[in-house]
Amino acid sequence: MSKKIIILGALSAIAEATARQYAAEGAQLLLVARNAERLEQLAQDLKSRGAATCQTRAMDLAEVPEAVTVFEEMTVALGRHVDAVFVFYGLLGNQRHEERDIAAAARNIRINFSSAAEWCLAAANQLERQKDGVLVAVSSVAGDRGRQSNYVYGAAKAGLSTLVEGIAHRLAPTGAHAVVAKLGFVDTPMTAHIHKKGLLWAKPADVAEKLVAIAAKPDMPVVYVPGFWRLIMAIIRNVPARIFHKTKL
Ligand SMILES: NC(=O)c1ccc[n+]([C@@H]2O[C@H](COP(=O)([O-])OP(=O)(O)OC[C@H]3O[C@@H](n4cnc5c(N)ncnc54)[C@H](OP(=O)(O)O)[C@@H]3O)[C@@H](O)[C@H]2O)c1
Repeated sequence: MSKKIIILGALSAIAEATARQYAAEGAQLLLVARNAERLEQLAQDLKSRGAATCQTRAMDLAEVPEAVTVFEEMTVALGRHVDAVFVFYGLLGNQRHEERDIAAAARNIRINFSSAAEWCLAAANQLERQKDGVLVAVSSVAGDRGRQSNYVYGAAKAGLSTLVEGIAHRLAPTGAHAVVAKLGFVDTPMTAHIHKKGLLWAKPADVAEKLVAIAAKPDMPVVYVPGFWRLIMAIIRNVPARIFHKTKL
């Protein structure tokens, strides 16, 4: 039986790399993103790479009034069962701008936390009913400590991380799973403006490979990708404020 996979935010660079891995396995995919034309091109490419089926839904995921109903419709389209749900979409935003324009900050929080939370809760209800399957929500190490350079984004991702950790706890007795994947630096369009150097930067294909492995064996509710970020963030969380506040991080 081919796996049934829902990908929310399918045009993210890491999501596309993840979808390619599932396509190569012959999975049945349902992809959701904003840009209908690019989504259709991606679907054609995934079919040529081996996807058994590839359905698409074009929508702004932060502007869906009835996420639960829409999510149910997606699972019906996959035959009322889903093996993995990935929540990829996100917005880095501009911290300085968001401090002056509170509406922009609210938009960041709506995209990265509130709307993502609705989709995660809708997915959790489906997985709980099925008693199997996995939710993988993509979060960020930025949520582990508030920093002056990106604390609106970080706070939204921290909220998402806690929500998904709670869903994992809720689902634990059922046979279904949830995992929050906290990513470090990944070389994607989201970080195109940042000068990339050094070993801390990961490639989308490597991150995707790890996420597919996590979905296949979801034995930890909170994972860091790559794994060395767990140690880095443990150190950063424990730097005393009197020292941390002297940095420009
Ligand atoms: N890159 C990193 O260093 C890094 C680090 C930690 C966590 N992350 C997280 O990883 C995830 C994937 O990001 P990425 O690095 O692959 O960046 P990306 O290629 O820029 O992907 C972000 C995607 O989110 C989509 N999106 C944003 N708002 C949306 C909305 N309201 N409805 C539908 N789609 C929406 C964008 O769609 P459009 O193409 O239509 O704009 C874009 O395809 C994000 O959640 C990000 O926060 C990334």
